[in-house]
Amino acid sequence: MDSYGPTPFLKDKVAIVTGAAQGNGFAIAERLASHGCRIAAIDINADGIRAAAARLGEGSRAFVADCSSVPAIRDVVQEVRKAFDRIDILVNNAGLLRIASFPDIGEADFDLTVNLNLKGAFFFAQEVQAALPRDGRIINIASVAGVDGRTLSAPYAATKAGLITITKTLARALAPRGITVNAVAPGLIDTPFNQILDQKIGVEKQGLKPGEMLARRAAEIPLGRIGRPEEVGGVVAFLASPDAAYITGETIILAGGWVID
Ligand SMILES: NC(=O)c1ccc[n+]([C@@H]2O[C@H](COP(=O)([O-])OP(=O)(O)OC[C@H]3O[C@@H](n4cnc5c(N)ncnc54)[C@H](O)[C@@H]3O)[C@@H](O)[C@H]2O)c1
Repeated sequence: MDSYGPTPFLKDKVAIVTGAAQGNGFAIAERLASHGCRIAAIDINADGIRAAAARLGEGSRAFVADCSSVPAIRDVVQEVRKAFDRIDILVNNAGLLRIASFPDIGEADFDLTVNLNLKGAFFFAQEVQAALPRDGRIINIASVAGVDGRTLSAPYAATKAGLITITKTLARALAPRGITVNAVAPGLIDTPFNQILDQKIGVEKQGLKPGEMLARRAAEIPLGRIGRPEEVGGVVAFLASPDAAYITGETIILAGGWVID
């Protein structure tokens, strides 16, 4: 019998998932919860995260925090530690991409991208690590942009490449304590983020029909479609599972063959 799939292999464990109000973060939280995990669901969007936690069901709770602010990260980790008796898994998912081409990217957008995608993930890991048990897990949501620079935004790609490097360094640092640290690098995933991109670039800038820009991009992907947030959730659940106990410092690319490293 598989030790993952619809079995409660995460029963009673507690996972922090950042950026869990929608998209990949919600799908990750939902999948971990389906395996018995209690979720500390964190997001800057207060209404969104409360609704998400309600959907995740009993045992899960919403926390509102700006994951790009180190003091806010410290405060929310304290809140989570008070609300739950343990923390087993951290999923650093909150991330953003400012849509602007190279000549138009301003300093504020650069800083915002670095502060959330890179600095926030690092300090979340630092704040949570002391609470993690021997089979604890840190899972960072990177991007194929961090593997081959595949995006309009150089700051976004740089933060995701940095997150992959942080993953390798922390894997070595935490291995003596039995804690694994891995990354997932999605390609094009059907989240609200990409729906906005389709509207702002495809429809408003390129005059395409709704959905057409995404369909054109999907045609470039060897498997012929964009990915689903549930598929990101599935890979994260595998990395959180006992079957992944001997994997650390790795980045799993989830991109339908769009990027093969
Ligand atoms: N969608 C894709 O194609 C894709 C591809 C590769 C990687 N990713 C990565 O997956 C992650 C999630 O992406 P998504 O597509 O679901 O994005 P999304 O924009 O749909 O959702 C992001 C969530 O993060 C929250 N958030 C934003 N700023 C925050 C902050 N400062 N503090 C706390 N929460 C904040 C938002 O409120 C939202 O709920 C990101 O790290 C992104 O880089 C996405």
